[in-house]
Amino acid sequence: MSITDEKFFRFSRHKTPPAPISNKKEMKKRISHRRYLPQPLSDTERDTLEKLIDHCNRRSGLHISLICNRPEPFTGHLTNVRNYLVFTGQAGDVHLEEKCGYYGEQIILAATAMGLGTCWIGGTYDKNSCLSHLSKGERLVCVAALGHSASTSSPHSPHRSTKSIRELSVNHEDAPAWFTEALAAVQLAPSSMNRQGVFFELLPNGPVRGTVTDSEAFSMVDLGIAKLHFELGANGGDWDWGSGGIFRRAIQEKSCGAIVRRTDPSGTEYLLIRHNGGHWSFPKGHVEAGESEEQTAYREILEETGLTTEIDSSFRQIVTYSPKNGVMKDVIFFLARPTGGTEHAQEEEIAQLGWFPYAEAVRIVTFTTDAEVLELAEELERKKGL
Ligand SMILES: Cc1cc2nc3c(=O)[nH]c(=O)nc-3n(C[C@H](O)[C@H](O)[C@H](O)COP(=O)(O)O)c2cc1C
Repeated sequence: MSITDEKFFRFSRHKTPPAPISNKKEMKKRISHRRYLPQPLSDTERDTLEKLIDHCNRRSGLHISLICNRPEPFTGHLTNVRNYLVFTGQAGDVHLEEKCGYYGEQIILAATAMGLGTCWIGGTYDKNSCLSHLSKGERLVCVAALGHSASTSSPHSPHRSTKSIRELSVNHEDAPAWFTEALAAVQLAPSSMNRQGVFFELLPNGPVRGTVTDSEAFSMVDLGIAKLHFELGANGGDWDWGSGGIFRRAIQEKSCGAIVRRTDPSGTEYLLIRHNGGHWSFPKGHVEAGESEEQTAYREILEETGLTTEIDSSFRQIVTYSPKNGVMKDVIFFLARPTGGTEHAQEEEIAQLGWFPYAEAVRIVTFTTDAEVLELAEELERKKGL
C-alpha cells in the first residue's frame, strides 16, 4: 500500500474535496485530545469525513464508520466525546489491525487538517455499545474519538516523550536525509500507551524493512500508523503489509515555477496558463542539471509565456503530489513580476495564457493546491498594501 496509489487526502475551502496530497504538516500538529466541546460536527465536516472514510473502505476492504452524537461508549478521562470512528473489518483478514492503523491514521490526519481533535482509543471505552456497528463476520479492532477539542492545542514535542532515532532504527548514521526524515515522522506517530514498538532498517540499495518489536494488543495497529508516518516522512513510497514488510521509496521529481503577477493603478492580475491537457495552473517545469530553483522558474516562465521576470524567492511554497503511481513530485513556487519580453504561449505545451484578478484566478485554477498557494500570495499582497 502507499499514498501514491491509495492516495492521501487533504481538505480545502476552495475546491470540492477530496484532493490528493502528501502534506506532512498534520503529523506535527496532531496530538491526542481527550476533552471535547459539546458542539456537534458541522454538515460539511461530516460530509468531508464520510467521503474519505468511504474511499479508505473501498481501497482497504475495511469497514470504518463515523458515529455522531452518541456519547455512550466514553466515560472517565474522556470528556464530552460525542463522535467517533469505529474500526472494524473482516475477522479473517490477517492484516486487519495493521490496515486499521494505516488507513485510520489517514483519516485522523485529515481530521487534524480540518481543525478537529482526535484520539485513538483501544482500551478506555465500552466495547459493548459499539458492537451494533459490526456486520456479519466482522471484528471490532478499536475506535477513535473525534470532535472540537476543549483543550488549547500545544506544540507536539513538549507534551510527551518519544523514542530516539537510535531506538527506532539501525543503519541511520550514514543514511540518506529522507530516511532520517521518515524516522522523525515515526517519532510523531501515536501508539498505544506511547510504546512506539516499531523498528525500521535501511537495507542495502535503499529498501527499508519495518518490524514490530512487541506483541501487545494494539502492536499491529501501531505498526500500520507508524508505516503511514514513515511513508509521509519519506515523501511517498510503497509498503508491503506485515511485520518485516518492505518499503520502496517513490521516485522523486522536482519542478519550479512562479505565481506571476502584475499590478497597475486598476489593480493586480495573476498569470495563468491552460495546458494542452486542459488544466489551468501557473508556469512551471522540471529542474535541469546545474540549475538553481530560481533559475528553473525564470527559464520555465520565459519558455512557456515569452515573459522575462524578476523572481521573488522570499515567497517559496512547496506543493507535493503524486503524478502517477510510484512517483512523488515537489513543485516549488516563487512569486514573480514581469519585466519584459513578448507574451506568447509555448506551442508544444500551452493552449492559452490569461491574466485574471484574484477572485477569478482562484476559481479558474484546476488544483486545490494551486488555489492555496495563490491564496497565500494574495494574502501577502494584501498585507503589503496595509
Ligand atoms: C492503537 C492505539 C490505542 C490507544 N488507546 C488509548 C486508550 O485506550 N485511551 C487513551 O486515553 N489513549 C489511547 N491511545 C492514545 C495514546 O496514549 C497516545 O497516542 C500516545 O500516548 C501518544 O500521545 P499523542 O497521541 O498525543 O502523540 C491509543 C493510541 C493508539 C495508537
